[in-house]
Amino acid sequence: ILEDSERVAEWAARYVIKRINDFQPGPDKYFVLGLPTGSTPEGTYKKLVQYHMAGKISFKYVKTFNMDEYVGIPRDHVQSYHTFMWESLFKHIDINPVNVHILNGNAEDLEQECLSYEKKIVEAGGIELFIGGIGPDGHIAFNEPGSSLVSRTRVKTLNQETITANARFFNNDISQVPKQALTVGVGTVMEAREVMVLITGSHKAYALHMAIEEGVNHMWTVSAFQQHKRTIMLCDEDATLEL
Ligand code: GLP
Repeated sequence: ILEDSERVAEWAARYVIKRINDFQPGPDKYFVLGLPTGSTPEGTYKKLVQYHMAGKISFKYVKTFNMDEYVGIPRDHVQSYHTFMWESLFKHIDINPVNVHILNGNAEDLEQECLSYEKKIVEAGGIELFIGGIGPDGHIAFNEPGSSLVSRTRVKTLNQETITANARFFNNDISQVPKQALTVGVGTVMEAREVMVLITGSHKAYALHMAIEEGVNHMWTVSAFQQHKRTIMLCDEDATLEL
């Protein structure tokens, strides 16, 4: 628990840098990082860019896999997760674009896209550190309430709460918010060797309570990480109001 979201961002960025810098890369040995979108990780990405500019971190031997992407909006749409990731992080750092993986929400065969994403994660050696955020209803990635806790990457229909929450990014017009997304499953994230969930703000307080103080429950999918061997729940004071 840290004082505010600024400190959460700083801690998260330093932790990612430490993990990458402690890693011994090789000709075909990359640090595999799972990444979220949303407003919560924005501060962390800003810090990572600053530390990169200051020469403290290189992403040359890093491969990334993003958690999710909307279905049916163009890849270069201002609100696609593809655009978000390139604008907030990738274009500012020295990562090789071939090492960036983001689900393609416009693939002709969405199921095949999800299967091959899982395959690519395995081929990369599995995810070393998966960073996540949560919705106010406790969903991680787009694993909405009711998702199986052993779910894999798949197409998911968003629930009304998520659509409403995301309308702020689509001119507050619910009709413009995509109704489906591709998302890694809870099971996919559970297989990462380490998970770090960022939770900030009082609007996430009840979700944090359900995540860690109640039982493991598929209606609050982030609660699955109580059973993960190495998970950090990194939060600010505001998010702890219900603990
Ligand atoms: C979306 C994303 C999640 C994210 C959540 C919270 O639903 N698919 O990965 O954690 O939003 O977003 P924010 O950080 O903006 O509250």
